[in-house]
Formats: sequence, structure tokens, C-alpha cells
Amino acid sequence: MEVDILTIFPGMFPGVMSESILGRAQSKGILTVRVHDIRDFALGKHRIVDDYPFGGGPGMVMKPEPIAAAIEHALLCRESDAGGESRVLLTTPAGRPFTQGLAREYAACEHLVILCGHYEGIDERVGTLVTDEVSVGDYVLTGGEIPAMVIVDATARLLPGALGDEASAAEDSFWEGLLDYPHYTRPRQWRSLEVPDVLISGDHERIRRWRREQSLERTRRRRPDLLEHAELTEEDLKTLRNLAP
Ligand code: ADE
Repeated sequence: MEVDILTIFPGMFPGVMSESILGRAQSKGILTVRVHDIRDFALGKHRIVDDYPFGGGPGMVMKPEPIAAAIEHALLCRESDAGGESRVLLTTPAGRPFTQGLAREYAACEHLVILCGHYEGIDERVGTLVTDEVSVGDYVLTGGEIPAMVIVDATARLLPGALGDEASAAEDSFWEGLLDYPHYTRPRQWRSLEVPDVLISGDHERIRRWRREQSLERTRRRRPDLLEHAELTEEDLKTLRNLAP
């Protein structure tokens, strides 16, 4: 997958993009990330990318010309000619919520262009070049750079080969839509707290059932809204009915 990021703060990206799974995915050739400075597409000595809003009011608005030139350049950077159109994302708190489902949808794309918005706004007319407006949550960040990193991170880890075998098992559809179960490692006893006996039993079927029950119980307690869309089996429904209120 190829990702072109358009930002006025390109210096925010190298660390995040080069470490851990994102760094490894790039070394393996599964992921290509290019970061472009929108200022490089601004005309004039001062490379101005924003201006006062028509109609007055606080804050500045990002000018349409440099952004359009940056998007058009990013579309030309695409190397792959396989499958589907390039998606052009704008990060904005006014966008569609970013979810695991949307990450899965993006992971199936060959090319993403991510325009990092700034809350004061982007000239509305640039919207004609954008295919998706995306929000990473109901709070306002200082800009769209961290949301862009969130989108790339959640998407890239779903690319085939990005995670080791062990980790990819967690993506198993069995856990679809539920919160994760609790994890433990050595020592068996730590500050008088014990690891649950079932995990030491060696009985794989009991362990599977316990984890599933923990996952269901946690989801019901912390995020009951998720249960409405989770893929639940008959056994799950029975477990939920038997859980203490
Ligand atoms: N820019 C500022 N806040 C944001 C948010 N919550 N999601 C996406 N872009 C943003």
C-alpha cells in the first residue's frame, strides 16, 4: 500500500513512521509512506498557505491552491497500477468516525492520500478533491497530523505480513467487535495478586471459554454499545444471559 501525507508539519512524521510495525512494514516493502510539505506547493517568496476567512471571524483558513496542487501531485506519486481508485482523506473533527471497519476498508486500498486539516478549516471548495472526511474521535486536536498517524497505524497493521503470526491471531474474526480479554505473564504471583488458575491448567478448551467470557463481560460492562454489532454465537448469548447483572 502507498500512503501520501500532506501536511504543514512534515517534521512530526519521521519518528512515528520509522519505528515498530510501521517501520518494519516499510522495510518489508508492504507499505510506502511519503510525506509532503504543503508549503512546497505555495506560490510566492513567503510560501503562504493560509488566509483570513471571508465573512470575518477568528482563525485562518487554508488556501485552496496549494492544497489542490499538493493533492494532484500526491495522486501522481502513486506507483501501483493495481486495483481501485486512490482515496483522498481529509482529517477533520467534522468527519465520519474512524473505526476498525474503516481501517479494514482502507487496508484493502492500494493508495491513500491523507490531507492533514487544521481546525480553523480548509477552504470548502477543496472538498471537491476529497473522497473521505475522517474524524478520530469526538474531541478537537491541534491539527490533523496525529489523526493521520492514527489512520496509517491502524490501517497498516492489517496489511498481510505486517504483524507476526502470533499477533495476527488477535485479529481472528472470533473476537470481532468485542474488547480484548485480560492477559497475564510471569511471575504467577505479583504483589499478592495471582494469575487465574484456569490459565495454568493447560486445558485449552477451558482457556478459550474463559477468555471469551471475560471478553463478553468486559464489553458489556465498559462498552455495551459494541454488543449490538458484535458477531455473537449461541454460546455467547448464553454466556451473556448467565453473567451476573
Ligand atoms: N483535527 C482536529 N481534531 C481532529 C479529530 N478529532 N479527528 C480528525 N482530525 C482532527
